[in-house]
Amino acid sequence: MSAKRKIATVFGGTGFLGRHIVKRLVAEGYTVKVATRVPERAYFLKPCGSVGQVVPFLCRYSDPASVREAIEGASIVVNCLGILYERRRRRFHDLHNQIPVLMAEACMREGVVRFIHISALGVDQARSRYAASKREGERAIQAACPWVTIMRPSVIFGPEDNFFNMFARLAQIFPLLPLIGGGKTKFQPVYVGDVAQAVLVAALRPVAGGFDPRGQIYELGGPEVVTFRQIYELLAKYTGHKRILVPLPFSVAKIDAFFLSLLPRPLLTPDQVESLKTDNVVGSGNLTLSDLGISPTGMSLILPSYLETYRAGGRFADKKTA
Ligand SMILES: NC(=O)c1ccc[n+]([C@@H]2O[C@H](COP(=O)([O-])OP(=O)(O)OC[C@H]3O[C@@H](n4cnc5c(N)ncnc54)[C@H](OP(=O)(O)O)[C@@H]3O)[C@@H](O)[C@H]2O)c1
Repeated sequence: MSAKRKIATVFGGTGFLGRHIVKRLVAEGYTVKVATRVPERAYFLKPCGSVGQVVPFLCRYSDPASVREAIEGASIVVNCLGILYERRRRRFHDLHNQIPVLMAEACMREGVVRFIHISALGVDQARSRYAASKREGERAIQAACPWVTIMRPSVIFGPEDNFFNMFARLAQIFPLLPLIGGGKTKFQPVYVGDVAQAVLVAALRPVAGGFDPRGQIYELGGPEVVTFRQIYELLAKYTGHKRILVPLPFSVAKIDAFFLSLLPRPLLTPDQVESLKTDNVVGSGNLTLSDLGISPTGMSLILPSYLETYRAGGRFADKKTA
């Protein structure tokens, strides 16, 4: 593993999860090439390492030569690229299948030692186009690079997350919140720090004593399984905004989502409503965080630290939580 220099390439290192992975690789002494469409977006990561340790690297994701250049010299490659909704020039297939396959091919050619691809939990069952693209992407990547390690996280929480912050913002504004499909869909939210640590272990821990993450799929969930309704209840607890929950059948939610998907940054799309029809929990018999030596962090330890900022009057408004 250390025959090569300690260089890692992280695609999507500017994103919510990717930035945590970059920071951990830097702390392990790696020089990290942050492959991005806009290098300026990675500048904020530079202070987490010594001078020159974080290298923002312009990559034209659809260009095989550019992807190869980004990977050249690296022993570790992590792919965190992903989108939740499509636009005319950004398609699920491109981000979740075609581009990662280019990475997989480059990893094979450049003698990369570990390649970790971030997929998503529930892709085997879910019917959404997002899930289908992730599922087909996994297969295409495995065909190109059989030793890829695939991580399938459930919904990820942490201070800069999309999911909890978005619903907390909605709860600030609206007196009613929709319980799509009755709010029965189950999730197993996982802490961003645990997902980043899982990637680090899969990337760095030597193959020994029955441990070999190459060619494996890990399903990453937190210690609690909660329904959509319970997530609203947690939001109410930590933000102080107790809202009326209005059950909304999937069919009606899809119509609403169609209009919401027309916004520049859609709050909800019909495809996301589709994905709510299946539970998002770790399946039995799969490799999990514990197989990577990680005990998952509970939501109650992390959510208050950032959701309390949504309280009326801020986090110190309620003496009991101050
Ligand atoms: N967050 C979750 O709850 C969650 C749950 C399950 C699975 N995942 C998966 O985990 C991975 C990381 O998630 P994340 O939440 O960290 O993602 P994110 O912050 O939304 O985005 C990750 C990266 O994707 C690139 N990207 C975004 N839009 C793009 C576009 N239109 N064209 C090309 N590149 C684009 C960006 O890279 P540049 O701008 O630097 O080029 C960005 O840094 C994704 O594969 C996601 O599907 C996330």
